[in-house]
Amino acid sequence: MSIIADDNDFKSKNIAEKKKHSVLKCECLENDKNFENCIRPKSFDTYIGQTALKETLKISIAAAKKRELPLDHLLFYGPPGLGKTTLAGVIAEQMGVDIKITSAPALERPRDIIGILMSLKGGEILFIDEIHRLNKVAEEILYPAMEDFFLDMTTGKAQTVKTLRVPLPKFTLIGATTKAGELSGPLRDRFGIIHRLEFYTEDELAQVIKRTAGILNIEISEQGAHAIAKRSRGTPRIANRLVKRVADYALVKHDGRITEDIANKSLDILKIDNYGLDSTDRSLLKLIIEKYDGGPVGIETIAAAIGEDVRTIEDVCEPFLLQAGLLQRTPRGRKVSPATYRHLGYKNIDINEQKSLFY
Ligand code: ADE
Repeated sequence: MSIIADDNDFKSKNIAEKKKHSVLKCECLENDKNFENCIRPKSFDTYIGQTALKETLKISIAAAKKRELPLDHLLFYGPPGLGKTTLAGVIAEQMGVDIKITSAPALERPRDIIGILMSLKGGEILFIDEIHRLNKVAEEILYPAMEDFFLDMTTGKAQTVKTLRVPLPKFTLIGATTKAGELSGPLRDRFGIIHRLEFYTEDELAQVIKRTAGILNIEISEQGAHAIAKRSRGTPRIANRLVKRVADYALVKHDGRITEDIANKSLDILKIDNYGLDSTDRSLLKLIIEKYDGGPVGIETIAAAIGEDVRTIEDVCEPFLLQAGLLQRTPRGRKVSPATYRHLGYKNIDINEQKSLFY
């Protein structure tokens, strides 16, 4: 059930009526796993955004079905939270096959990858998240599996060693990575289809938010959805997380309905600014401005100074800051832009003058 209203609709209804609607009981909210499963779209029609990519995928799927062959191996890359796993699930649904989901760090020993490959049935999809973190041995096991649907196994020791070619059913590997550049050339070359996922627009995120609120039985106004969308950093995973937080605030402080005002008040309390930056993003940018003259400064230095690990900064904070033009990557380290000074409320003056204010 989708419940969309205008902020003015809310004002005109009486309080008792509002209270009646505000009882928030939904199995989807029992834990994070339930939440993810409840809101995950299962078809291209309910999967919002990534329009161009969806169209190409639909064609690839239709062609594979006509040929009665599995889909080519696919690689999705792009920042975290944009729906790579969800899209793999939609593809499996459209192909009418099962999907096995794992991630590279879980495939540490050769037997992990061999076990999962041997458990696959014909046509099934194997999804490997963070595929850039696959170790060399696992990669080499994957090459013949991807290319010829064989596992090359060795038995015996020293002089008696024998190689065995074990046939595998035809399957589709879907790899996902936030760091396409860290994938080895030979592995990248074995994917027939490679796609980048893009950040979502405000309108697309508002649609995601309204859909999620509908599933969770939460009333939300159009303006309320846009207020959350604006601060979601182009990322549906963040938008969905914020819907839950704003819904908590609406339930405890008001009548359970999300209006623009409620969304803005609760996001202010969460210290998420109108670019969607949180306190970690702001500390990172302020550090570069106040201690390093706007940069450039090395990522390790930044990580140590703000108490975050390098990987979190690179994978979680940076993609959006780079895309928003608030951070730049240079060979000598990270630096901020004039827009960063303006956004953080430093006087909007020439950067060189700005620097002299701090030293
Ligand atoms: N939830 C997360 N990603 C989504 C998407 N692309 N469409 C709809 N709901 C989503």
